[in-house]
Amino acid sequence: MTTSRKTKVGIIGGGPSGLLLSQLLHLKGIDNIVLEKHSRDYVLSRIRAGVLEHGFAALMREAQCGERMDREGEIHEGFFIAHDGVKDRIDLHKYTGGNSVMVYGQTELTRDLYEARDKMGGEVIHEALDVTPHDLTSNAPWLTYRLGDDLYRIDCDYIIGADGFHGVSRKSIPKDVLTEYEKVYPFGWLGVLSRTKPVSPELIYAKTERGFALCSLRSQVLSRYYIQVPLTDRVEDWSDEAFWEELKKRLPQEVADQLITGPSIEKSIAPLRSFVAEPMRYGNLFLAGDAAHIVPPTGARGLNSAASDIYYLYHALMDHYLKGDDSGLESYSQKALARVWKAQRFSWWMTSMLHSFPENSTYDQRLQQTEMEYLLSSDAAKAALAENYVGLPF
Ligand code: APR
Ligand code: PHB
Repeated sequence: MTTSRKTKVGIIGGGPSGLLLSQLLHLKGIDNIVLEKHSRDYVLSRIRAGVLEHGFAALMREAQCGERMDREGEIHEGFFIAHDGVKDRIDLHKYTGGNSVMVYGQTELTRDLYEARDKMGGEVIHEALDVTPHDLTSNAPWLTYRLGDDLYRIDCDYIIGADGFHGVSRKSIPKDVLTEYEKVYPFGWLGVLSRTKPVSPELIYAKTERGFALCSLRSQVLSRYYIQVPLTDRVEDWSDEAFWEELKKRLPQEVADQLITGPSIEKSIAPLRSFVAEPMRYGNLFLAGDAAHIVPPTGARGLNSAASDIYYLYHALMDHYLKGDDSGLESYSQKALARVWKAQRFSWWMTSMLHSFPENSTYDQRLQQTEMEYLLSSDAAKAALAENYVGLPF
């Protein structure tokens, strides 16, 4: 027997996209249910990005989830680009007329969203298996899922596919409706989290002949470092010692001398990939976040692009339910994609400028070097970088 119930908005995926939308809608009295495949502990064990755009931080506050972020997160008004043994600062504050980013880990942000959902009695169903959307092009789409041996059905007005890159939502859209764009880079990032004081209070993006490196942080006692590695490398091949040694070789001497090393708490390799699926709406299914697009992490756009989708969807659904105005829903895909592609462009540009590309000709290498020289010598170019890094307007 199947147990049936109704809600306005059925949300697939309890990552940051799904939870943030759920919380924002609930605050406006719009009923919703989140179906998450994994347990909460599993979702909270994933170490992901940590740089939030100003507009995203504002959305967290609007969702009444900004308190711990404002207390423990760090406002960063600049970052460094290291090259040829030196580092140059990009002054985000100066080049954006006072804007900045918030450094606060996605894991912490997700925890805050879960706590807020609990406090309000929001419904997040974990370990929901075989989630399947039905009748997407009708006015009465529905979802089915399984908990153990029990089957459930939820009738909805709208379904939101916020179930990440490997989720079921995008796969429910017929192939002839969807166009997928993809770029796979020939390398990955090996990341290490360590309970050590960060080498720099601000992030350092380093370009060297040995490959890219990034010094990032979660707090003043928790560091996150990355190095570019070939796709053939496996995490088991990298001892902590080998990682620290290689990282030091990719940093300017004065930075390497300051680096405090320690045991890794987490170590993983993530391949670099760009992906966009168009359109982001099919009937009454709306895709959001990683379900529709992926960027390489270089420009810190992944989580932020998810947040901008949620911003547009939240406003569109509010206009529908509170004002009877469907224009936001009608224009969602087009509006979201316009911003998504700008984030794709920026991530591609940062990735191209900072990494070693094994297949590059000497001509390509000279162009890459010139791109960096131009950036660091031009206020206009730095302003363009800063404008994108702090986040384009919604
Ligand atoms: N049914 C239900 N839930 C699912 C299914 C499914 N078939 N498939 C995946 N999920 C869940 C995943 O377990 C995950 O918790 O959907 C969630 C999707 O979360 P994320 O992958 O974190 O995606 P999203 O919420 O869009 O977050 C934005 O941007 O670049 C990234 O690192 C950034 O993960 C972040 C993402
Ligand atoms: C991170 O801290 O994990 C991080 C920061 C900036 C990036 C990518 C990752 O561009």
